[in-house]
Parts: sequence; C-alpha cells; structure tokens
Amino acid sequence: PVRRITVPQIAAAKGKTPLVALTAYSAPMAALVDPHAEVILVGDSLGMVVHGLPSTIGVTLDMMILHGQAVMRGSARAMVVIDMPFGSYEESPEQAFRNAARVMAETGAGAVKLEGGARMAPTIRFLTDRGIPVMAHIGLTPQSSNTMGGFKTQGRDQATWPAHLADASAVADAGAFAVVVEGVMEALADRITDTVAIPTIGIGASARCDGQILVLDDMLGLSGRVPRFVQKFGDLGPRADQAIADYADAVRTRSFPAPANLYR
Ligand code: KIV
Ligand code: NA
Repeated sequence: PVRRITVPQIAAAKGKTPLVALTAYSAPMAALVDPHAEVILVGDSLGMVVHGLPSTIGVTLDMMILHGQAVMRGSARAMVVIDMPFGSYEESPEQAFRNAARVMAETGAGAVKLEGGARMAPTIRFLTDRGIPVMAHIGLTPQSSNTMGGFKTQGRDQATWPAHLADASAVADAGAFAVVVEGVMEALADRITDTVAIPTIGIGASARCDGQILVLDDMLGLSGRVPRFVQKFGDLGPRADQAIADYADAVRTRSFPAPANLYR
C-alpha cells in the first residue's frame, strides 16, 4: 500500500512548493482528487454541498465520520483531514478529545480540523499532546456566522489585524501543524503567512499563502453561484444538466437502450 503524506511532510512544506488541498465527501470524488492533492479535507461544507442544509451548524459528528470513511476508502496518497462539526469540540478540551478520537479511530484519517484562534489554543494543545494532529482554521469561520452576523471578509479594518495575527500565533504555538486562513484581506493573509512557522492554507486569502484550498464542487462548477474567491476550473453543472436532458430525450424517443446496450 502507498504510504500517505504525513503531518511532518505537510509542516515541512512551509515556504516551499504550494500545498494543494481540495475537499471531497465521497469515495469516487476522493479518488479523482487523490493523485493531485497533498490534502483532502472532508469539510463540514458537506452539510450544504451534499445534504442541502442551510449552513454548517446542523452537521453532526456521525455525518463527518460516515463521509470520512468513504473518502479514506477512495484515496491512498493524500492526507485526509476531517472537520470537527459545530458543537463537537467547543465545550472543553476533554469533549474535543473524546470526539476527535472517535473521528480518528473510526475513519483512519490523518488529522482533524477545527475553527477558532486564540480561544481554541488550549484545546489544540490538549489534542496534539495526546496524538491527534490538528489543522486550525482562522479568519472567516463559518460555524460562528450566527455571532458574526453572516459571512464577512475579515481584516477590512486594520485595527482588527493584531487580533487575527494573535489567533494565528496562538494556534501555531499550541501545536497546530497547519492553518486554514479563510476570507481575509490579502495583505492580512500575507502578514499571517510571514508571521507563523506553520503552513497557511488560503481560501479567499492570498496567492502567497503556503497552500490553497477550495470546495471541490464549487471549482468544478457544480454549485451554481459561488463566492468571488472561487475560480471555476470546470463547468460540470451545465454538462451534467445536458447529459441528463439527453438521457431523458433518448428514453422518450426509444433510442436508448440501443442494440449495443442489449444482451441478445
Ligand atoms: O468545510 C470546508 O469545506 C472548509 C474549507 C472551505 C476550508 O472548511
Ligand atoms: Na469547514
């Protein structure tokens, strides 16, 4: 079996060739991503992307584990990181460890990710001290959208920069091996990347981050409207729509199944 990319390998990528990360939620999509990416994130974005939820708030630990198992089966080389969902880690370091240990044991993934900066540092320390690698996630943190009043680009006011930089330093000092920096002003993302010794993985951040991540369905063009920070590298939504329309037409005109599709 191919050995998977390890936490030290990811941590060592700081300042070198940019890390490639994408989300995946299923075995076949993980298999498509696996040859091309160092990190596959089973993001709690699966709540919206796969399950039609209005936000990530309703995602459960069991959902993350089920999709995490599928992604592990479909991949062989990439490090698989699984999001801790809202409510599964914020209460205490002990709660976080109990639930993160379930994720690690039941999926075989390489690490978990959780949202929050300085306030989550004691929890990150608690997990990393006990054998659970943690990817941090700062800047725009979607699980806090109810207290933040929506999804707002962070760092527009320079007065907030020290707090964001303190978040980045706190998660790095607590032992996080990498940090997702989401939805921040480019110049702030650059300051964060220059400040911390761990790789920054940007989404809506800066091309100077140590890596980039996007939601797979968004970049494939499967998601309809997407935020400004997404580039659609594919156009699969309209192509799928056309394929389904062609199938419906073929069924209705009895041109499918054709002789080649039949056992005679
Ligand atoms: O849930 C997710 O997909 C994420 C990435 C966008 C970073 O957290
Ligand atoms: Na997430």
